[in-house]
Amino acid sequence: MPASSYILGIDTSCDDTSMAILDQTTGKVLSNIVSSQIKLHQEFGGIVPEVASRAHAENISPVFAECLHQAQLKAEHLSAIAVTKTPGLIGCLLTGTSFAKGLAYRLNVPIYGMNHLMAHLFSPFIEQNVVYPFLGLVVSGGHTAFYHVESANDFRLIGQTVDDAAGEAFDKAAKLAGLDYPGGPLVDRLAQHGDDRRFEFKVARVKMGEQYLSFSGLKTAAKQHLQSIESLDEPTLKDFCASLQKGIVDNLSYKLRYFLVNSHFKAFALSGGVAMNSRLRRDVQSICDEFQLPCFICKPEFCTDNGAMVAHLALVQHPQNELFELDAKASVKIQARQLK
Ligand code: KG4
Ligand code: ZN
Repeated sequence: MPASSYILGIDTSCDDTSMAILDQTTGKVLSNIVSSQIKLHQEFGGIVPEVASRAHAENISPVFAECLHQAQLKAEHLSAIAVTKTPGLIGCLLTGTSFAKGLAYRLNVPIYGMNHLMAHLFSPFIEQNVVYPFLGLVVSGGHTAFYHVESANDFRLIGQTVDDAAGEAFDKAAKLAGLDYPGGPLVDRLAQHGDDRRFEFKVARVKMGEQYLSFSGLKTAAKQHLQSIESLDEPTLKDFCASLQKGIVDNLSYKLRYFLVNSHFKAFALSGGVAMNSRLRRDVQSICDEFQLPCFICKPEFCTDNGAMVAHLALVQHPQNELFELDAKASVKIQARQLK
């Protein structure tokens, strides 16, 4: 019987069935399994919610078995379960929460309902000591948001996009250029050998205030650039990807500087799927160096959706975190566009 206690983290909010087991005392990640559904959704050019929830239902038990196997543990060794309850696709969330509730009932262990965005926000600190107060940037397929984080349970949304998320901007513009879903990683790869000054993508200024970002103009600019060229041969595609990537990253960098000037943050933390982007990782590091600020960039394996960040958040927020009652429901919260 292992001497330590172990927490299982589950995330089924979108198109990845993911689970991880962390040592509850040290926060060390003992296993982290992600079953990606990308191939299933590729033929539709985006995520189909019903297809996603069915795939979660099929994948969840094998993923759990694999997760225990990798950690060399048995289900009985688990001492707590953390599961994403919001935000996400409702059918997908329900698959994860139902599985978690059944397992918690069987094992008689506590269950924590976690917020997916908060899990991303704290993910750069997995297996690291968290530094407060920090400025957090979550950049994913569905969200682009800056947070002022004073402590595990005291954080404030201070900036966000008024339209598309950064990941959406990558994916939509990539689709216009004929690339498969999700376009972000492909743009990143093609951009390595392209000229980033060939096509202009401007930093958007939002009338509502400096704290807001906007990416919808990039899509229009992408369409116009693609219409202006005779043929999208390989060198042109690489230049397009490099320019697009520069445009998206410049928008984020501009806002990062805005939030860092005259601030009292002790660290910056970058997370979410788009945090995989090589240019973004490089540029935020150099901005932090300029501001002499410690820069925590999420490790690649914890950038896109994963169970480790969900279990980690439960450890960070425990014991104040609410207990997720066995009859509690998954929920889809719509984020307010207006910042308070
Ligand atoms: O966090 P995530 O796995 O899912 C959401 O919660 O949305 O993020 C997925 C997003 C997709 O839009 C994908 O294109 C983007 O992350 N992404 C990237 C890269 N890798 C993933 N975007 C740009 N460059 C990358 N290397
Ligand atoms: Zn996510």
